[in-house]
Amino acid sequence: MKISLKTSQTSGSALIVLTDAKQIESKEFTAALPQLATLIEATQYKANLNEILPLIGLNQHYPFCSFIGLGQDDELNASKMAKLAQSIIQLAQRKYATLDLDITHLPASLHYVFTLALTQANYAFDEYKSKKNEAQLEHIHLIGSTLSENQIELIHAIQSGQNLARDLGNRPGNICYPEYLAKLAQELADEFPDQLKVTVLDEQQMADLGMNAFLAVSQGSAHAGRVITLEYLPNREEAPVVLVGKGVTFDTGGISLKPSANMDEMKFDMCGAASVLGTIRALCEAKLPIHIVGAIAAAENMPSSKATRPGDIVTTMSGQTVEILNTDAEGRLVLCDTLTYIKRFNPAVVVDIATLTGACVVALGKVVSGLFSSDDDLAQEIQTAGEQSFDRVWRLPVMDDYQELLDSPFADIANIGGPHGGAITAACFLQRFTRDYRWAHLDIAGTAWLSGANKGSTGRPVPLLMQFIANRSQHD
Ligand code: BES
Ligand code: MN
Ligand code: ZN
Repeated sequence: MKISLKTSQTSGSALIVLTDAKQIESKEFTAALPQLATLIEATQYKANLNEILPLIGLNQHYPFCSFIGLGQDDELNASKMAKLAQSIIQLAQRKYATLDLDITHLPASLHYVFTLALTQANYAFDEYKSKKNEAQLEHIHLIGSTLSENQIELIHAIQSGQNLARDLGNRPGNICYPEYLAKLAQELADEFPDQLKVTVLDEQQMADLGMNAFLAVSQGSAHAGRVITLEYLPNREEAPVVLVGKGVTFDTGGISLKPSANMDEMKFDMCGAASVLGTIRALCEAKLPIHIVGAIAAAENMPSSKATRPGDIVTTMSGQTVEILNTDAEGRLVLCDTLTYIKRFNPAVVVDIATLTGACVVALGKVVSGLFSSDDDLAQEIQTAGEQSFDRVWRLPVMDDYQELLDSPFADIANIGGPHGGAITAACFLQRFTRDYRWAHLDIAGTAWLSGANKGSTGRPVPLLMQFIANRSQHD
């Protein structure tokens, strides 16, 4: 969906005007149009937040015209923008291709997150439905927006990257498997040949590098694993930001098999990888001048006669040995070797993104992603980007005191830490492989997808990652 700016109301098929309570109560406002005063009086319209008042036949320039309430100014915040955007999209979607939207009365500080929320609300996924959704909203003209052309361009790029991440998350495991992700990365590089360089490691190459923790996950599956790297602006000299995504295209748990209920949702276990691909796509479109590497650990976790057994011990690429006590703690196994592999890019900072633990969902629910880092400056940078893009995180500790929970009697480290602090011990496991660079870990198990009525991938944290990168590209 395209967003563009317009200075005033003109004419078209549909107009929505955001109104606040003060405006509705003002005598001057209603005096201009007596019928409007009658309508407001008759319907007792108060312009409460999300309250709709259709003005059919009252605006000669727009056959469809409606007010949507903003309530009281001082009660508005970024959280409320998502619902507001949904109400607006619901009114217009499947009816109009273009919409004029007057946001003059929305506080300017909310224009950015609100506009981003419009693009997010307009997403629909019908790839596998025989009967397709009716026409989507294609174009919104914002009236009274304070956004700059640069901000609009950034929003367009984020939309494109986030929608890609959502599409990938929503595609099932029989279609979206490691090789598929590698093919998609290659296609992205073909589309942006001047900006992107893609490399793909197959399992033989991984074996040669000693990535045995990774291979312990993919060995049970008929679909071979892949490590995919996408280097954005490979010719830039500065040390890159490296984004590492967990790409478990389906997580059955392996021999430590998961229960059947809701196991279908484990097709979303590649949402970290999807957010990396989405961010790289957004970067190519926004053309930000900054050196970024995306790395994807793509594998399928299956039980079979070739699958890893609980108790198996492997030597990771870093040389540390791991006792795999639970084959369902597979994310950290594919990630640890990928986090060692990406050292060759000499990263300035590394951020990994993973649907890593159910414990993180228990701790933080579906509102914020878990942020783990022992680097306060980096953590602060990510938190700030989360607030700016309304794709928020909450910091949890990674302290050495938790490391002993990962002790193993037989190897250097176990891959699970027992029942306490599961999200933290998972982060502590990764930390053992990231001591050579500045690092942060995002556990997106709660935020990457929704269940229930709105089931589907959210495309988070593409907005956060793009904001983080955009902030950095301005400073450098
Ligand atoms: N992909 C899951 C994490 C997950 C679980 C995400 C539920 C979203 C919802 C991960 O691979 C996993 O299975 N983690 C285990 C770790 C445990 C065995 C230490 C978990 O969280 O139960
Ligand atoms: Mn698992
Ligand atoms: Zn998993």
